[in-house]
Amino acid sequence: MNYYIQQITAKETHTVRHPILRPGKPIDSCDFEGDYLETTIHFGLFLDSKLAGVVTFMKNNHELLHFKNQYQLRGMAILKKFQGRGLGNHLIIHGEEFLKTQNMEILWCNAREIAVNFYERNGFKIIGEAFTIPEIGLHYVMYKLFEPR
Ligand SMILES: CC(C)(COP(=O)(O)OP(=O)(O)OC[C@H]1O[C@@H](n2cnc3c(N)ncnc32)[C@H](O)[C@@H]1OP(=O)(O)O)[C@@H](O)C(=O)NCCC(=O)NCCS
Repeated sequence: MNYYIQQITAKETHTVRHPILRPGKPIDSCDFEGDYLETTIHFGLFLDSKLAGVVTFMKNNHELLHFKNQYQLRGMAILKKFQGRGLGNHLIIHGEEFLKTQNMEILWCNAREIAVNFYERNGFKIIGEAFTIPEIGLHYVMYKLFEPR
Protein backbone atom coordinates (compact mmCIF):
# COMPACT_ATOMS: atom_id res chain seq x y z
CA MET A 1 0.00 0.00 0.00
CA ASN A 2 1.28 3.43 -0.96
CA TYR A 3 1.32 5.44 2.25
CA TYR A 4 3.46 7.93 4.13
CA ILE A 5 3.33 9.41 7.63
CA GLN A 6 4.18 13.00 8.49
CA GLN A 7 3.64 15.58 11.19
CA ILE A 8 0.38 17.54 10.80
CA THR A 9 -1.35 20.38 12.65
CA ALA A 10 -4.02 19.97 15.33
CA LYS A 11 -6.68 21.31 12.95
CA GLU A 12 -5.73 18.85 10.22
CA THR A 13 -6.59 15.94 12.54
CA HIS A 14 -10.24 17.05 12.53
CA THR A 15 -11.10 15.54 9.13
CA VAL A 16 -10.47 12.10 10.63
CA ARG A 17 -11.26 12.75 14.31
CA HIS A 18 -14.70 14.11 13.48
CA PRO A 19 -16.28 11.17 11.59
CA ILE A 20 -14.48 8.49 13.60
CA LEU A 21 -14.22 9.79 17.17
CA ARG A 22 -16.90 12.50 17.43
CA PRO A 23 -19.59 11.54 14.86
CA GLY A 24 -22.64 13.80 14.98
CA LYS A 25 -20.97 16.17 17.44
CA PRO A 26 -20.00 19.78 16.75
CA ILE A 27 -16.62 20.21 15.05
CA ASP A 28 -15.37 22.05 18.17
CA SER A 29 -15.56 18.73 20.01
CA CYS A 30 -12.52 17.69 17.92
CA ASP A 31 -10.36 20.27 19.71
CA PHE A 32 -8.71 18.44 22.60
CA GLU A 33 -7.19 20.19 25.60
CA GLY A 34 -3.44 20.31 25.06
CA ASP A 35 -3.63 20.09 21.25
CA TYR A 36 -1.74 23.33 20.76
CA LEU A 37 1.03 22.88 23.34
CA GLU A 38 4.59 22.94 22.03
CA THR A 39 5.18 19.48 23.48
CA THR A 40 2.20 17.96 21.64
CA ILE A 41 2.77 16.25 18.32
CA HIS A 42 0.25 15.13 15.71
CA PHE A 43 0.96 12.61 12.95
CA GLY A 44 -1.11 11.89 9.87
CA LEU A 45 -1.02 8.81 7.66
CA PHE A 46 -1.63 9.65 4.00
CA LEU A 47 -2.88 7.16 1.43
CA ASP A 48 -2.52 8.36 -2.14
CA SER A 49 -1.81 11.81 -0.67
CA LYS A 50 -5.12 11.90 1.27
CA LEU A 51 -5.28 11.91 5.05
CA ALA A 52 -6.54 8.46 6.18
CA GLY A 53 -5.45 8.24 9.80
CA VAL A 54 -4.34 10.41 12.72
CA VAL A 55 -2.75 10.11 16.13
CA THR A 56 -1.66 12.62 18.77
CA PHE A 57 0.96 12.38 21.51
CA MET A 58 0.91 14.71 24.53
CA LYS A 59 3.45 15.07 27.31
CA ASN A 60 1.20 14.26 30.24
CA ASN A 61 1.65 12.31 33.47
CA HIS A 62 -0.88 9.78 34.74
CA GLU A 63 -1.29 9.51 38.51
CA LEU A 64 -1.20 5.69 38.41
CA LEU A 65 2.15 5.64 36.61
CA HIS A 66 5.32 6.67 38.39
CA PHE A 67 7.66 7.77 35.62
CA LYS A 68 9.11 11.18 34.83
CA ASN A 69 8.87 11.27 31.06
CA GLN A 70 5.34 10.14 30.20
CA TYR A 71 3.39 10.68 26.99
CA GLN A 72 -0.31 10.17 26.45
CA LEU A 73 -1.52 8.76 23.14
CA ARG A 74 -4.77 10.44 22.06
CA GLY A 75 -7.12 10.70 19.10
CA MET A 76 -6.04 7.45 17.43
CA ALA A 77 -8.30 7.02 14.41
CA ILE A 78 -8.31 5.51 10.93
CA LEU A 79 -11.08 6.35 8.43
CA LYS A 80 -13.59 3.51 8.45
CA LYS A 81 -12.98 2.29 4.90
CA PHE A 82 -9.26 1.88 5.62
CA GLN A 83 -9.51 0.14 9.01
CA GLY A 84 -8.19 -3.39 9.45
CA ARG A 85 -5.32 -3.05 6.97
CA GLY A 86 -2.47 -2.50 9.40
CA LEU A 87 -2.45 1.30 9.10
CA GLY A 88 -3.14 1.85 12.81
CA ASN A 89 -0.09 -0.30 13.58
CA HIS A 90 2.07 1.79 11.23
CA LEU A 91 0.96 5.05 12.89
CA ILE A 92 1.64 3.86 16.44
CA ILE A 93 5.07 2.48 15.51
CA HIS A 94 6.00 5.72 13.75
CA GLY A 95 4.97 7.77 16.80
CA GLU A 96 6.85 5.50 19.20
CA GLU A 97 10.04 5.78 17.15
CA PHE A 98 9.79 9.58 17.31
CA LEU A 99 9.06 9.59 21.05
CA LYS A 100 12.04 7.34 21.77
CA THR A 101 14.20 10.18 20.46
CA GLN A 102 12.53 12.38 23.14
CA ASN A 103 13.57 9.83 25.82
CA MET A 104 10.01 8.77 26.52
CA GLU A 105 9.88 6.25 29.39
CA ILE A 106 6.23 5.26 29.17
CA LEU A 107 3.34 5.75 26.76
CA TRP A 108 -0.23 5.49 28.03
CA CYS A 109 -3.75 6.02 26.77
CA ASN A 110 -7.39 5.89 27.79
CA ALA A 111 -8.44 3.02 25.55
CA ARG A 112 -12.03 2.56 24.45
CA GLU A 113 -13.26 -0.93 25.20
CA ILE A 114 -13.42 -1.75 21.47
CA ALA A 115 -9.80 -0.70 20.97
CA VAL A 116 -8.28 -2.70 23.86
CA ASN A 117 -7.33 -5.59 21.58
CA PHE A 118 -5.68 -3.20 19.12
CA TYR A 119 -3.49 -1.73 21.88
CA GLU A 120 -2.72 -5.18 23.33
CA ARG A 121 -1.51 -6.29 19.89
CA ASN A 122 0.80 -3.27 20.07
CA GLY A 123 2.29 -4.26 23.43
CA PHE A 124 0.12 -2.20 25.81
CA LYS A 125 -1.17 -3.54 29.15
CA ILE A 126 -4.20 -2.56 31.20
CA ILE A 127 -3.69 -0.91 34.60
CA GLY A 128 -6.48 -0.20 37.09
CA GLU A 129 -10.22 -0.58 36.75
CA ALA A 130 -12.47 0.27 33.82
CA PHE A 131 -14.02 3.75 33.96
CA THR A 132 -16.64 5.65 31.96
CA ILE A 133 -15.96 8.80 29.93
CA PRO A 134 -19.35 10.55 29.59
CA GLU A 135 -20.93 10.29 26.11
CA ILE A 136 -18.11 8.04 24.88
CA GLY A 137 -18.26 4.94 27.06
CA LEU A 138 -16.16 2.42 28.95
CA HIS A 139 -12.38 2.92 28.92
CA TYR A 140 -9.24 1.32 30.36
CA VAL A 141 -5.91 2.98 31.12
CA MET A 142 -3.30 1.12 29.07
CA TYR A 143 0.46 1.63 29.07
CA LYS A 144 3.67 0.52 27.41
CA LEU A 145 7.16 0.84 28.88
CA PHE A 146 10.26 1.90 26.94
CA GLU A 147 13.92 1.37 27.72
CA PRO A 148 15.70 4.61 28.49
CA ARG A 149 18.56 5.25 26.01
C1 LIG B 1 -8.61 1.19 16.54
C2 LIG B 1 -8.05 1.63 15.18
C3 LIG B 1 -7.24 2.89 15.33
C4 LIG B 1 -7.13 0.50 14.68
O1 LIG B 1 -6.58 0.86 13.43
P1 LIG B 1 -6.61 -0.19 12.25
O2 LIG B 1 -5.80 0.36 11.13
O3 LIG B 1 -8.02 -0.55 11.96
O4 LIG B 1 -5.87 -1.43 12.94
P2 LIG B 1 -4.81 -2.39 12.27
O5 LIG B 1 -5.36 -2.91 10.99
O6 LIG B 1 -3.47 -1.71 12.24
O7 LIG B 1 -4.79 -3.56 13.33
C5 LIG B 1 -3.76 -3.74 14.25
C6 LIG B 1 -4.05 -4.92 15.14
O8 LIG B 1 -5.16 -4.61 16.01
C7 LIG B 1 -6.21 -5.54 15.82
N1 LIG B 1 -7.45 -4.76 15.76
C8 LIG B 1 -7.66 -3.60 15.11
N2 LIG B 1 -8.93 -3.17 15.29
C9 LIG B 1 -9.53 -4.10 16.05
C10 LIG B 1 -10.84 -4.23 16.60
N3 LIG B 1 -11.79 -3.30 16.40
N4 LIG B 1 -11.13 -5.31 17.35
C11 LIG B 1 -10.19 -6.26 17.56
N5 LIG B 1 -8.92 -6.19 17.07
C12 LIG B 1 -8.60 -5.12 16.34
C13 LIG B 1 -5.94 -6.22 14.48
O9 LIG B 1 -6.41 -7.54 14.48
C14 LIG B 1 -4.44 -6.15 14.35
O10 LIG B 1 -3.80 -7.24 14.99
P3 LIG B 1 -2.45 -7.88 14.32
O11 LIG B 1 -1.45 -6.76 14.22
O12 LIG B 1 -2.10 -8.93 15.26
O13 LIG B 1 -2.89 -8.37 12.98
C15 LIG B 1 -9.16 1.85 14.11
O14 LIG B 1 -9.84 0.66 13.88
C16 LIG B 1 -10.14 2.95 14.48
O15 LIG B 1 -9.93 4.10 14.11
N6 LIG B 1 -11.21 2.60 15.21
C17 LIG B 1 -12.23 3.55 15.59
C18 LIG B 1 -11.72 4.63 16.53
C19 LIG B 1 -11.15 4.09 17.81
O16 LIG B 1 -11.75 3.25 18.48
N7 LIG B 1 -9.97 4.62 18.19
C20 LIG B 1 -9.30 4.27 19.41
C21 LIG B 1 -9.75 5.19 20.48
S1 LIG B 1 -9.06 4.73 22.06
